[in-house]
Amino acid sequence: MITRELDALPKRDVYRILTSLVIPRPIAWISTVDAAGRVNLAPFSSFMGVFGPPMLVVTLARRKDGSLKDTHQNLRTNREAVVHLADLPLLEALHASGAEVGPEVSEVERLGLVTAPSLHVAPPRLVAAPVALECRLNREIELGPASTLVLLDVLTAHAADHIWNSEYDCADASLWQPITRLASVAGPNYGALGQTFKLGASELP
Ligand SMILES: Cc1cc2nc3c(=O)[nH]c(=O)nc-3n(C[C@H](O)[C@H](O)[C@H](O)COP(=O)(O)O)c2cc1C
Repeated sequence: MITRELDALPKRDVYRILTSLVIPRPIAWISTVDAAGRVNLAPFSSFMGVFGPPMLVVTLARRKDGSLKDTHQNLRTNREAVVHLADLPLLEALHASGAEVGPEVSEVERLGLVTAPSLHVAPPRLVAAPVALECRLNREIELGPASTLVLLDVLTAHAADHIWNSEYDCADASLWQPITRLASVAGPNYGALGQTFKLGASELP
């Protein structure tokens, strides 16, 4: 058994070790718009759903120079976002959208991704993404000088026809291959949903 006391380690090591252990992580592929209406797109895997109130949480780190990432700046500007879940055919585009580029560059245009207007928020949704969740910023919680937790209220859920089970009126995981973030240095850094199981009855609250 390998044991590491995290408070005795430099921040970089803590990040490397913990992100390699807490896997698989879903990836929020987030579109936002800036004050000029330009569409921004970026992936964030410090992400999860909160299913009491319908919310999502995402951790947005600062850039190395201390500035806010475009997604964060845009959320502060107009409090709106669309959080997509991508499937395997979109893996390369999702990865490429994580490159650090200036706010004048729209990742959506650069990657040739087609968008459609959202119903309730200004950022458009990606047509090719199997899941798109229209969201509004609920609040920000500062986690220190370098990162912020953002809580997003989910207003509207869109799902592709081919992942939907109309009998249960929800998506069926066996019908698509959501991609996940794995360790970022050692071994593979992405995965897709592989083996799945159904044990007992799925319960609803
Ligand atoms: C798969 C993946 C997951 C990422 N997860 C996060 C994350 O959870 N938090 C974060 O701040 N940056 C994360 N990043 C880095 C951002 O995507 C990257 O800084 C991006 O350029 C931010 O874009 P923006 O400035 O347009 O918002 C991730 C990158 C990739 C490729």
